[in-house]
This record gives sequence, structure tokens and C-alpha cells, in this order.
Amino acid sequence: MSSNVWKVAFFAVLVAVVFQWICNCKDDPSRYFVAKPNASYDYIIVGSGSAGAVLANRLSANPDVTVLLLEAGGSNRGYRELRVPVFMWQAGIHEHLFFNYLTEPEQGKAAGYEDGRVKIPRGRVLGGSSGVNFLLYVRGSRHDYDQWANMSGDETWDYRHVLPYFKRSERITNPDNIEPGFHSSSGSLGVTKIMDSYAIRDVLVEGFKDIGFEYNPDYNGRKMMGVSRSQITTANGVRTDTAESFIWPILERPNLHVTLDAHVQKVIVDQATKAATGVEVIIRGQKVKVKARKEVILSAGAVGSPQILMLSGIGPMEHLKEMGIPVVTDLPVGKNLHDHFGIDVPIAVDKPITVSESSVTSLWSLLRYSLFGTGPLSVSGCEVMAFTATSQELKQKDWPDVQVLFTGSVLKTPILQTLHQSSQVSKELEEQRDTASYGLTCAPNFLRPKSRGQLRLKSRDPFEYPALDMNYLDEQMDVDGIVLGMEICQKLASSKPLKAVGARLTDTKPLSICSEHKFNSKAYKDCVVRARLLPIYHPSGTCKMGKVSDPTTVVDPNLKVKGIAGLRVVDASIMPSIVSGNTHASVVMIAEKASDMIMGQTPPPPEDPL
Ligand SMILES: Cc1cc2nc3c(=O)[nH]c(=O)nc-3n(C[C@H](O)[C@H](O)[C@H](O)COP(=O)(O)OP(=O)(O)OC[C@H]3O[C@@H](n4cnc5c(N)ncnc54)[C@H](O)[C@@H]3O)c2cc1C
Ligand SMILES: *[C@@H]1O[C@H](CO)[C@@H](O)[C@H](O)[C@H]1NC(C)=O
Ligand SMILES: *[C@@H]1O[C@H](CO)[C@@H](O)[C@H](O)[C@H]1NC(C)=O
Repeated sequence: MSSNVWKVAFFAVLVAVVFQWICNCKDDPSRYFVAKPNASYDYIIVGSGSAGAVLANRLSANPDVTVLLLEAGGSNRGYRELRVPVFMWQAGIHEHLFFNYLTEPEQGKAAGYEDGRVKIPRGRVLGGSSGVNFLLYVRGSRHDYDQWANMSGDETWDYRHVLPYFKRSERITNPDNIEPGFHSSSGSLGVTKIMDSYAIRDVLVEGFKDIGFEYNPDYNGRKMMGVSRSQITTANGVRTDTAESFIWPILERPNLHVTLDAHVQKVIVDQATKAATGVEVIIRGQKVKVKARKEVILSAGAVGSPQILMLSGIGPMEHLKEMGIPVVTDLPVGKNLHDHFGIDVPIAVDKPITVSESSVTSLWSLLRYSLFGTGPLSVSGCEVMAFTATSQELKQKDWPDVQVLFTGSVLKTPILQTLHQSSQVSKELEEQRDTASYGLTCAPNFLRPKSRGQLRLKSRDPFEYPALDMNYLDEQMDVDGIVLGMEICQKLASSKPLKAVGARLTDTKPLSICSEHKFNSKAYKDCVVRARLLPIYHPSGTCKMGKVSDPTTVVDPNLKVKGIAGLRVVDASIMPSIVSGNTHASVVMIAEKASDMIMGQTPPPPEDPL
């Protein structure tokens, strides 16, 4: 071929790349979204996150019912940070895409944070937190669900019954690399097991093997324990949040309306019949009432849903009275608040084997990404994860309670400060961490915290963030679990395969806030964990599901709010106890299961490939 043809071909590819790059289909949202909802619908769904988007899709599949989906945020399209995995860490620059909640200061804890307050962001955009999360697809342990079934007295929450719902949404893009029986390639939620990536991935896997971990091809399969390559919510290298997987493909359905910039203030409950009849919503500054003929479903997340319930008079009686809200029903809404917490342990290496700026911006990696959806741009940096447990018994049961995650670089001052860590701590760490040109961060977390906090209103203003009294690390075992993870990271750094790439820990000087303890002693580590705890962003449990007779529950096993007709909660708030893994996949499953309950469909038969 003549060199001109090559030049033209090259130029055409380049134009295509740049076009995809810049365009990201910046559609005019007004073409698809409904600015002014009708006066009534059969179902009103509040929040379009991991749960709400799935529900909107499943319920509106029946052309005989009408559905309104109300979302506080705007469209997810037009942001490369939401679309291209490698840019995920930069999503925070778009502040309007988040509710940036801060925890309440707690005596003697989080001393390494500005004012002792830890930032807990949630997505505020079509797709909710699934659009801004770290992409990890982890279902949790079979034992988690068996425990839910046990606590709720409803066997349909056990693993055998929920597995078909996990499979219903999933579309695994590379099924050859995972365990058959546990996955599906016919759903709409793209999931990819990371195969292609950097040298660091293999080094980490070998490092874990060196310190006694077994390689596990599929932590969502037969077993969880061991070290694995991550499964992430992408397809062809692009994030598959619930907006892209469940909402965009069905926006043309005539029986579904989706309204953005719609902040729900409260559920309207008829005091006489104790039935939810609709919602009060503020759409671009205008207060509007919309009626629900059948049900209102709250999927506003573990912070949003309890806030809306309380503003509607459904919550702890004393607290509602104190806020001057007429009490509709007395329920423990906002209690049982818990989350995963961990710590960051940076490991420097002496070669550019992790994601680097030059590898991301090179023409080759741009081409690779836009043509094949592979290469450095297609991954998030969390390419490997490992599970272990704090006791022999749990190991034997294969019920891990410690997870070790990674980020693709050493967390340095700019990131620490966006996490709200104090400038003093950031400065002390900066001096040590800036010595690392290349590296990654080992981030262990404790999966089954015992401590429980609570969420309360600060005012009756629906836009004012509620108070999050996390009460984190109140139980010593929650600290011990994280410290165990910290020690695994330290061991990993000195394993042979990591030593071979020049690995070393960066944080080798005592922090002033913990300097009364001997450096690297157990007491020192406890102190660092309490002061610098790293949130993994999985708040859960604030509208606990379980037996109607259990005074700690808010919703029954069918996710109906106790004592109120026509009102359900379907999202991370219903988890009686948080699952042993990242929460997104579990919330999608909860919504799949809820959609069958709401539509009165026969559930799929239970499955157990074991
Ligand atoms: C930074 C970050 C990283 C994470 N990383 C991972 C990960 O790698 N893997 C994983 O599995 N999980 C991860 N998670 C957690 C996971 O994404 C969430 O647990 C999950 O998305 C929660 O789903 P949800 O439906 O309960 O709530 P959300 O997805 O948060 O959805 C709630 C929706 O309701 C809307 N809303 C709230 N209030 C109102 C209101 N008053 N009116 C109208 N709409 C309202 C919100 O805008 C939002 O769209 C991460 C979360 C964050 C924030
Ligand atoms: C709880 O779990 C145990 C062991 O799995 C089982 O034997 C028992 O019947 C369960 N209880 C309930 C109420 O489901
Ligand atoms: C909204 O109202 C119009 C006019 O009454 C009606 O034709 C349409 O079907 C309604 N749409 C939905 C989704 O309820």
C-alpha cells in the first residue's frame, strides 16, 4: 500500500479516537427526560442509583403500568471521569455529581481528619453511586445471605434464592475466565474480569501467593478466600453503571417518565388510612405533588431514604418530635448505620509498572482503548484483591472478614486532602510519600464491623445533609480486623516478588498524632487506624429489613415499611448487616428481587451450583 493510504487511514483512526474522546455522546437531555411529570403514576421510584434504575427498568417492562423515576441529580453523560475507568479517581472535581456528606466529629477518633470529620460521598446523578464508584463487582459471601435469611426468618433471602437474581442482571463479557454456574452472559449489567493490564497485577498475585494466599479464579464463584483478579462493572472498557445498563436503553418506553433535578422532600401519607399516596418533590426549585396509585418506592440510598422517611414523619418518635415533625409511625429509621472502614498502606516500587501518566496519555494506549476497549485506560487501578479472615473458623467456613484492595498509585497529599484528611497529617505523610515516583496503595478493610451508628436529621430542610453519627471502630474487633489487614500489606511489601521490583513501604516515620506509642507497635497501629480510618464508601443498614415483630426493623422481608401501606424501601439501607464485600452488586440483586415482589411475579427457582 502506498504511504498515503496509510496516512489517511491513520488520520481517520485519530479523528475517530478524538471524536469518541470528546463527544461521549453529549446528548441534549431534554430530548429524553420529562421536565414536568404527570399528576399521577402507578409507581413512583425515588432515586436512580444501583437499585432505583433496576426497578424502573423491571417495572416499566409491563406496558400496562406507568412509572415515574425521580432523580435528584442530572444526566450521567458528558463526563469522561464517569465513563473511562482510569479517570474514575478524578470524578470528585465535579462537585455537583455528589452529596458530600461529612460524619459528625467523634471523641478521640478521626483525629487525622479536618475537624475530625470523615467525608462519605454518594453519587448524585442518573445511576447514583454506581456511576461514581470504584467499579468493583463483588457479591459478598453466601453466608451473608444465609444470615439474612436466618435473621428475617424468610428463606428467600438465603444464597440459593438470591443467586438467580445476581445472574438475572449480569452480562459477564469474558465468561471463559470465571466459574460456570455462578455467572450469566445474558443480563444487561456488563461485568468484566480484568485479564489484560500491567505487570503489577502479576507481581501482586505472586506476592500474595508468596505469603500464603491461594489463587482464586473467581471470588463470586465457589469460594471467596484467596487472591484474585478483580471483576469490574465495565464492558468494552467503558463503565456499565445502572444508568447506562438499565435506563438509557429504555428511555423511549411510553409508560416510563424520568425526571432529573427532582429532589424528593417527603412521602405523602394519608393519616387516616396510613397509606402512602404520593410524594412532594422539588423540581428545579418548584414544589410539585405527584400521586402514586399503587406504590411509592424509596431507592435514595442509605442516607437519602432514611432522611426522606423521617421528613415524612416515619422514624424514631422522640427525634421526630424534637424536629417538630408530626409523627406518622414510630420506627427505628436511621439506626443500624454501618460501613466498611480500612486504612491506606502505600508501597513504592522502583519501576513504572503501575498506571503512570505517560502510559495513560500515550497515543498507543489511546488507540488501544478506543479500538479495542483495552489497555491502561480500561482499568481502575483496583486490579487485584484478596480475602482472608481473622479466625481459623471463618477461614474454614470460607467466610472472609478482611479484604485487601489496591489503588493504582501512592495516595499523596492532593488525594488525602480531597478525602478531608487534615493538612497536618497530609504534610507529614507528604514528606514520606513524595519519595515514591512509582507505586500503589494497599488498602485493607474489615468486612463485618460490629459497631453501629445512627443517622439523624439536622433540620426539616430536605437539602440540609443529615447528621451521620457513625460510631465507627467503637468495638476493638473492628480495629483489630483492619490492623490484621495492615500487617498483610506490610508482609506483602516484603515478599520476594515485590522485593524484586524494589518494593518498600513509604510510611516509615511515626505520625505526630500517634507519637506517644512505639512506632509500628500494635498500639501504634491501633492509633493510626482510629485516627486515619479510610472509608470504603458503603454506608448501609439504616432501614433494616427483618421480622415484623423485631423492634429493630423498619421494613419487612418484602421490603414494605412496617405499618404503612404502599411504601417500600429498596436500596443499601435495607441490609440487616452489610455484606462481606463491596455493596453495589448486592444492591442490584436486592432491586431485582424486589421487582418480582412488587409485580407479584413467581420467583426463579433456587440454585446452588456447589
Ligand atoms: C466513591 C465510591 C466508591 C465506591 N466503590 C464501590 C465499588 O468499587 N464497588 C461496589 O460494589 N460498591 C462501591 N461503592 C458503593 C456502591 O456504589 C453503593 O453501595 C451503591 O451504589 C448504593 O446503591 P443505592 O441504590 O443504595 O444508592 P445510590 O446508588 O447512592 O442511589 C441513590 C440515588 O438516589 C438519589 N437521591 C438521593 N436523595 C434523593 C432525593 N431526596 N430525591 C431524589 N433522589 C434522591 C441520588 O442522587 C442517587 O442517584 C462505592 C461508592 C462510592 C460513593
Ligand atoms: C439459622 O441457621 C441455622 C444454621 O444454618 C439453621 O439450622 C436454623 O434453622 C436457622 N434459623 C432460622 C430461623 O432460619
Ligand atoms: C402522561 O399523561 C398523558 C396525558 O394524559 C398520557 O397520555 C400519558 O400516557 C401519561 N404518561 C405516563 C407515563 O403516565
